[in-house]
Amino acid sequence: MDVCRLICLHIVFFNVINCNPCEVSGTAANCRDRNLTKVPDNLPAWIRSLNLKRNRITELPNKAFSRYRLLKIIHLDKTGLTFIQKDAFNGLKQLNVLTLSKNKMDLSNSNSADIFKPLTSLIKLDISENDYIPDVSSVSYPFLGYMTQLRNLSMDLLSERVLERCGFGQLKLKLLYFNRCYIDRLTNKTFLSLPSTLEKVHFYNSKHITDIESNTLRPFVNLKVLRLNKVCSRFDLALKLLYPYQNKSISMIDFTEVNPGICDGPLHFPSAVIVTKEMFKHLQKVCIKNLVLMEDGIVDFEPKSILWYKFPECFESIVMSKNRFPITNGFKLAELLGLTRKLINLKYFDLSYNPLSYDDTEPFTSNLDDSLFTTKHEHAEKLNSFSENKTFYISLPPKLEKLRISNFLQKIADSNLTIGIQNPSKLKYLDLSYFLSYSIPDLMFLHHSNVEFINLTGLDSRLFVTRKKQPLLESARTVILKQTHLGRTIYTFGESTFQAIPNVTTLDMSSNNIWYIPINAFSANKQLSKLIISFNLFAEIPISLMSLSKLNDLHMEYNMLQTINQTMRNWLEKQRTLNNGTFVLGLKGNVFKCECDTSDFIRWMFETKVKLDKENKKYKCRLKNGTVSTTDRVHNEFHHLFSNCGSQYWLLVGIVLLSVFTVLTIPAAIIINCKWRIVYWIYREFKTVVQKRLKQDFCYEVYISYARDSGNWVKDSLVPKIENCWRMTVCVEDRDILAGGSFAEAIAISIEKSRNVIFVVSDDFKDRTWTSYEIERAKYEKYTGNLHHIIIITKQVSMETIPTEFNRFWKDVMLIEWPEEDCDFGWDKLKIALFQQDKL
Ligand SMILES: *[C@@H]1O[C@H](CO)[C@@H](O)[C@H](O)[C@H]1NC(C)=O
Ligand SMILES: *[C@@H]1O[C@H](CO)[C@@H](O)[C@H](O)[C@H]1NC(C)=O
Ligand SMILES: *[C@@H]1O[C@H](CO)[C@@H](O)[C@H](O)[C@H]1NC(C)=O
Ligand SMILES: *[C@@H]1O[C@H](CO)[C@@H](O)[C@H](O)[C@H]1NC(C)=O
Ligand SMILES: *[C@@H]1O[C@H](CO)[C@@H](O)[C@H](O)[C@H]1NC(C)=O
Ligand SMILES: *[C@@H]1O[C@H](CO)[C@@H](O)[C@H](O)[C@H]1NC(C)=O
Ligand SMILES: *[C@@H]1O[C@H](CO)[C@@H](O)[C@H](O)[C@H]1NC(C)=O
Ligand SMILES: *[C@@H]1O[C@H](CO)[C@@H](O)[C@H](O)[C@H]1NC(C)=O
Ligand SMILES: *[C@@H]1O[C@H](CO)[C@@H](O)[C@H](O)[C@H]1NC(C)=O
Ligand SMILES: *[C@@H]1O[C@H](CO)[C@@H](O)[C@H](O)[C@H]1NC(C)=O
Ligand SMILES: *[C@@H]1O[C@H](CO)[C@@H](O)[C@H](O)[C@H]1NC(C)=O
Repeated sequence: MDVCRLICLHIVFFNVINCNPCEVSGTAANCRDRNLTKVPDNLPAWIRSLNLKRNRITELPNKAFSRYRLLKIIHLDKTGLTFIQKDAFNGLKQLNVLTLSKNKMDLSNSNSADIFKPLTSLIKLDISENDYIPDVSSVSYPFLGYMTQLRNLSMDLLSERVLERCGFGQLKLKLLYFNRCYIDRLTNKTFLSLPSTLEKVHFYNSKHITDIESNTLRPFVNLKVLRLNKVCSRFDLALKLLYPYQNKSISMIDFTEVNPGICDGPLHFPSAVIVTKEMFKHLQKVCIKNLVLMEDGIVDFEPKSILWYKFPECFESIVMSKNRFPITNGFKLAELLGLTRKLINLKYFDLSYNPLSYDDTEPFTSNLDDSLFTTKHEHAEKLNSFSENKTFYISLPPKLEKLRISNFLQKIADSNLTIGIQNPSKLKYLDLSYFLSYSIPDLMFLHHSNVEFINLTGLDSRLFVTRKKQPLLESARTVILKQTHLGRTIYTFGESTFQAIPNVTTLDMSSNNIWYIPINAFSANKQLSKLIISFNLFAEIPISLMSLSKLNDLHMEYNMLQTINQTMRNWLEKQRTLNNGTFVLGLKGNVFKCECDTSDFIRWMFETKVKLDKENKKYKCRLKNGTVSTTDRVHNEFHHLFSNCGSQYWLLVGIVLLSVFTVLTIPAAIIINCKWRIVYWIYREFKTVVQKRLKQDFCYEVYISYARDSGNWVKDSLVPKIENCWRMTVCVEDRDILAGGSFAEAIAISIEKSRNVIFVVSDDFKDRTWTSYEIERAKYEKYTGNLHHIIIITKQVSMETIPTEFNRFWKDVMLIEWPEEDCDFGWDKLKIALFQQDKL
């Protein structure tokens, strides 16, 4: 026993000394991405799992794994394998899983014919996505018939002939993935050699399939799942595959990206498909539990096709997203409503990403059977008043739980329409994000609503605040209000904004340009525990949050927070204790202030038990001299950086004393000596100051200083935005400073005549000839009281490229770190900086 342990220890020790490149934990060895050229022979012999993905093992020699007889799992994907010797897998009697995908194996080599013979316990094998040498037509697969336990197989569909020789007859396969299909015709004979035990068959990434015969899938009598994904075939041909399943039950039919338009090149664009009754004649007769018809390029359909089924009661989920077909005009709506009533088991319906706008020549409600509006519902008195009240009643399928109609662009008739929804009692999840019809109809739940999740991203929040009766929002626990112009809504509706969602526990209102929330705004939202207000313009934690006793998860990433003051820190600590000792706070993307007056915040950050989003507490922060550092570094040098914080007080005393001294000495000096010089000096200084103060004749609103590498952005985005959108006059060097005369003087005059200066800091900015000069002039104008704002825009540059000239007057400039994508967030910051009355 001890000897054995000693040996084991020795092996472990030996491996450490050997600098074993693999990571062994328990019985699993991970050798992924290690540039290995052969199977390592120094791993513990008892390992059960060996991951060799993404190495450079080009050849597997005989007995390559003889040391590891207990192996159950081997991964050899993407490792450049070209050849496997006959006895490479010898001894692996217990192996269950072998994956060899994405290699360059020459499997047709006669030596390889029996490579899988030793693997008698194999359950799962992946030999798909090989780059075949020299070409597909000459390749054949090794014999698979030895692996009697094999259930899951991934391979490529090369040809009928290859399938015949694989020995499938003996196998009881359940699942077959064809990860690439090189075949161009699927005939009644193609799969005759495959076992009838198959339950799931997937076809991925096919080449162009020119013909499909309707009995192709006949051998798969036990099929439960059929999936076609990125199959380059005419949609109607692919639908023929369902011929054998008429009058039968299938658990899942998934036709995603089945379209001939997407075959070549990286740019996929489906060709338009108009679904006819003929195309759907087989599909309609199958009892399908889950149907997916996604990204198939469907642009329209004929009567009795896509909304017409023989067994509608079979459906549990229907996904038809990412097509482009209209569904709300003419017979379509009538068919849809007819179908809805029969979908008695449907739980999930998805019609998202249906970007279609069209001229609605037919009104929404035309062509509809009057009976639709007089269906049995409780509010019988409303029936007759349809024409005036324009309420249109839809019965949701009784078991529907989840409804997604996001990114949906279709005209839904007139603005006064109300859609009355019946039977929504089971509905829990409603996604209406970016639901763009000409106007959003008033959704009215006649019954009590139980919706828990509602996504309204991209809609106009005003619509929901102003409507009186909204059971839909009243019951919601999770409400997503991203990009809903909420900033404007709060501005208009103030405290009543959030009264519409009394039961909310999770609220996402990121990306809304909010900088202010009225103090009593959340008085109706006592249940709120998670609040996301990232990507807004908050300069401090809104005080209105203090009324939310259950709040324990607050996200304020990418705002304009500079610090969190004592009051708010105490509140955060209190919330944490109130909520079982956990409070999560997201602060990433803010640039904090690391100066004397915020030093206690920095210290708090490292002492608190509030869980911050960055484990290492490394947030950006700006030192007094303008250098941008990180909070963790500042905390490490805390005493060094903040040691002389108290001395400011003495500086103040010094200044006061000096002033007193000057006030007392000047009159004395005047009286005693050099009288006129002092009078002149005072006069001159006074005069300039008065002159400057009176001078209000600015020529430009904004002076922009930039280097050549940001020229395009300045000319194409910044200047047009300021001039055309915000109606401010702009001075840019290349355009407004005339040639001739002294350039320096021209710059000085232009800056003097500008109300604001924007420096666009890019990589070349520091080395530009006039940079320092312009900064000095701006500084001068700032101190003479002329200039309103100095704004620095940094565009993805490191802090070192910001000229040091700024450091000395850092407190007077506004730094805007421009976001990587040119989004509204940056523009809003700039707008606020330009339009605010005083410096922040
Ligand atoms: C593998 O080789 C590549 C290219 O030679 C190199 O960039 C990479 O760092 C190497 N990886 C390891 C883990 O040695
Ligand atoms: C085979 O596939 C099924 C279905 O995807 C899966 O549940 C099972 O775990 C797979 N078997 C192995 C050994 O990976
Ligand atoms: C394939 O099967 C279908 C359905 O049984 C039949 O109509 C068709 O003629 C067959 N094709 C060939 C080539 O036998
Ligand atoms: C399906 O069943 C119906 C009767 O329920 C029968 O009339 C029809 O022929 C069957 N269709 C097929 C393809 O078996
Ligand atoms: C419209 O419906 C409301 C109830 O929602 C009802 O009070 C009102 O009388 C109706 N208008 C007409 C003209 O019937
Ligand atoms: C909608 O109703 C308002 C009054 O409530 C009316 O002025 C307007 O004309 C109506 N619009 C349509 C399209 O019926
Ligand atoms: C809400 O909808 C938007 C837009 O469709 C989507 O990006 C987002 O992931 C959705 N949010 C949730 C929580 O589902
Ligand atoms: C939502 O809150 C209101 C009180 O504002 C309450 O009457 C109602 O029952 C709640 N609804 C749900 C579904 O909890
Ligand atoms: C602390 O910050 C909050 C906002 O986050 C502000 O309302 C409050 O006045 C500040 N308190 C003090 C003492 O500065
Ligand atoms: C705190 O934990 C206790 C028990 O662990 C639980 O009963 C209580 O509901 C929790 N409170 C909150 C606010 O999560
Ligand atoms: C600003 O101060 C920090 C810490 O005192 C120092 O490391 C840094 O070099 C200074 N930066 C400049 C530009 O003076």
